[in-house]
Amino acid sequence: MAKKHETPNLDQLESGPWPSFVTGLKRLAERSDMIGDVLGQLEHSYQTRKGYWKGGTLTVRGYGGGVIPRFSEVADQFPDAAEFHTLRIMPAPGMHYNTDILRKLCDVWDEHGSGLLALHGQSGDMMFQGARSEQVQPAFDAINELGFDLGGAGPSVRTSMSCVGSARCEHSCYSEANAHRKVMNSFVDDLHRPSLPYKFKFKFSGCPNDCMNSIQRADMAVIGTWRDDIQVKQDEVRKFVQERGRHEVIDNVITRCPTRCITLKDDDTIEIDNRNCVRCMHCINVMTKALSPGQDRGATILVGGKRTLKIGDLFGTVIVPFMKLDTEEDLDRLVALGESIIDFWAENGLEHERCGEMIDRIGLANFLEGIGLDVDPSMIVHPRTSSYIRTDKWDEEAEKWRARQAEGAA
Ligand code: HEM
Ligand code: SF4
Ligand code: SF4
Repeated sequence: MAKKHETPNLDQLESGPWPSFVTGLKRLAERSDMIGDVLGQLEHSYQTRKGYWKGGTLTVRGYGGGVIPRFSEVADQFPDAAEFHTLRIMPAPGMHYNTDILRKLCDVWDEHGSGLLALHGQSGDMMFQGARSEQVQPAFDAINELGFDLGGAGPSVRTSMSCVGSARCEHSCYSEANAHRKVMNSFVDDLHRPSLPYKFKFKFSGCPNDCMNSIQRADMAVIGTWRDDIQVKQDEVRKFVQERGRHEVIDNVITRCPTRCITLKDDDTIEIDNRNCVRCMHCINVMTKALSPGQDRGATILVGGKRTLKIGDLFGTVIVPFMKLDTEEDLDRLVALGESIIDFWAENGLEHERCGEMIDRIGLANFLEGIGLDVDPSMIVHPRTSSYIRTDKWDEEAEKWRARQAEGAA
């Protein structure tokens, strides 16, 4: 197919040392008029320093969201890119695919769309970019036939992500894929019919390395952790020290423990004061053969992470310090917790207010009361500086907490 437009500005983007999206788009434009005009419009944007895509409303039968419509405002100059909609498609948990399914997905998009695919977007979706309005339904039907569903968009539960986790990663503390699947299947209605104050994201990371960045990005983050001691293989520790030298071990492991709870002993073994370990993963990440998470594994649940919106960026706040996620009943409890959080926020959140912003507005204590969780000292990292803590009646409250703990232990 002949080249449609001169693109001097875009061409410059191919000159760097890294792979260029422009090169990819040009290659695709050889067989797609639509992409040829998208390149033309992008060049036009670069020259005039304006964007020319506008949104709209578009979806497939029975769904309230999941398609991101884009209409060109300069369709007279770039008619083949007049409509360039994106279908958000939910990924497989852990983002594992076999080549057969990937080929089939590509074939669907060659037949029903522009051929341009992005795996995966910030949202976690597979993004099928570039369909005309009349292509959207048949494209979805074909993708759905392969077992995939539309993702979330608008004020709804959004597409979820989980790390590769237990399938391939030795740090994993629960089955992320299982939890992901169970939770998403439980919130299908809230995903496809936008009726919440704003978006709500679940993300699943198997350990505190948090490869899904869930603490920053998820309204409800499920992050694997353990509550017993770090597993130590002292013979591997010794080998590590002998290979790398005490200097490196001291500089890169011992002094980098944020709570200074590891000691290197004279016989080249280590001792960990597990009570003071905050599960940051640093030592485990460095000494992968010698150290691994404990055996009593589960997850910490945090709520309220998000990027800037009404207020600045927020990290998630711990609301459940430790939760086992081994059995179906455990997963049911996780789903029930998600339900009570979403219900409370749906009732009390303002229009376009993320869950974390609501918590910031009404206070953590009110939120916890609203979803029926007891305040726990493990929720607070720095009691003396936390704005959530009140120290009047401290002793009385501490006594109540101790009594509750004793009750729980009995
Ligand atoms: C054909 C035109 C476009 C399409 C189909 C499109 C579609 C999308 C989609 C599907 C997402 C979600 C991405 C994800 O989940 O990772 C997105 C994100 C975004 N888009 Fe676009 N978009 C288009 C043009 C633009 C333009 C022209 C701008 C700005 C000048 C823009 C700004 C953004 C921003 C800031 C985000 C958020 C990115 C993130 O969170 O990582 N988009 N767009
Ligand atoms: S979050 Fe932890 S378990 Fe998941 S892939 Fe990353 S390191 Fe592995
Ligand atoms: S996980 Fe982090 S806090 Fe715990 S012992 Fe290792 S470095 Fe220290």
